[in-house]
Amino acid sequence: MFNYTKIFKEANKAIKKSKNLYELESIRINLFGKKGFFSKKIKLMRDLPIKDRAKIGFLINKAKENIKKILVNHRIFLENNIINTKLTNEFFDISLSGRYMNLGSLHPITCVIFDIEKFFKERGFLLVNESEIENDYYNFDALNISNDHPARSTHDTFRFDEFKLLRTHTSSVQIKTMCERSPPMKIFSSGKVYRRDYDKNHTPMFHQIEGFVVDLDVNFSHLKKICYDFFSEFFKKKLKIRFRPSYFPFTEPSAEIDILNDNGNWLEILGCGMIHPNILKDAKIDPDIYSGFAFGMGVERLAMLRYKIDDLRVFFDNDLRFLKQFKS
Ligand code: PHE
Repeated sequence: MFNYTKIFKEANKAIKKSKNLYELESIRINLFGKKGFFSKKIKLMRDLPIKDRAKIGFLINKAKENIKKILVNHRIFLENNIINTKLTNEFFDISLSGRYMNLGSLHPITCVIFDIEKFFKERGFLLVNESEIENDYYNFDALNISNDHPARSTHDTFRFDEFKLLRTHTSSVQIKTMCERSPPMKIFSSGKVYRRDYDKNHTPMFHQIEGFVVDLDVNFSHLKKICYDFFSEFFKKKLKIRFRPSYFPFTEPSAEIDILNDNGNWLEILGCGMIHPNILKDAKIDPDIYSGFAFGMGVERLAMLRYKIDDLRVFFDNDLRFLKQFKS
């Protein structure tokens, strides 16, 4: 019923004779296809006496296995032939120079953020990032920003509805984190913030880095020290820096830091101050025991100073001629 040697020899001969992949494929289908030679043989096994089935089954499987090996080998042989003929018939100019691969690079704002993050991580600050969509409470109320504060006006804020908005600063991270953790805390956060502004020094989306420390005996000189250290490391030279008294509803006393640019103008870089006792109280931290400082800085402003750029908007025009200059 099944002559192994005969089948094997015939299949082997047919396979080796096939001159291309099409011929080989039709041989494979004739042998192994659904209605092919082996399927038919297997079906016929039903009619065999039980004692012969195992023996014939074994021979069929052995034939299938060995013929498959020959098929695979011959396919490899034919494929190599195709490549070899291509190689000998086609002309290659091996002196041609390779194709230029255009590699991307980090956006200058990303580089600045990475640098700032590195500085604060090295000093033990923990990075905490929050959602850019915030509710009124964390963006304003919880930060002591009353209903009539100018920052609340629809002019400054992109709103989704009465309660949800695109955060206008990263200070919301301050109060959220303080509510979730207990002192001592040394936290910083970086991310996008949104305001309805557009001129040389403002874009509707920009980046801020927020940092704060809450611990026993934290005072204004700690804040000054970290700011000065940061600026001298970031700019790698001594710049003229001034602390200017200011007002933020969530810090008391408050200050802003300005840096003198090459054109002799003071550029506002950072807002800061000692965390207001009311904010600590809201976060269930006792202001008679703990104190803290907080600061928030504009990443684009720092980038403008570092790269001597006088119009912030160029960072987001995505003009490759501009961006490529920062490729390192
Ligand atoms: N959130 C303030 C702003 O966007 C900056 C700030 C942060 C001020 C932390 C004080 C403390 O202007």
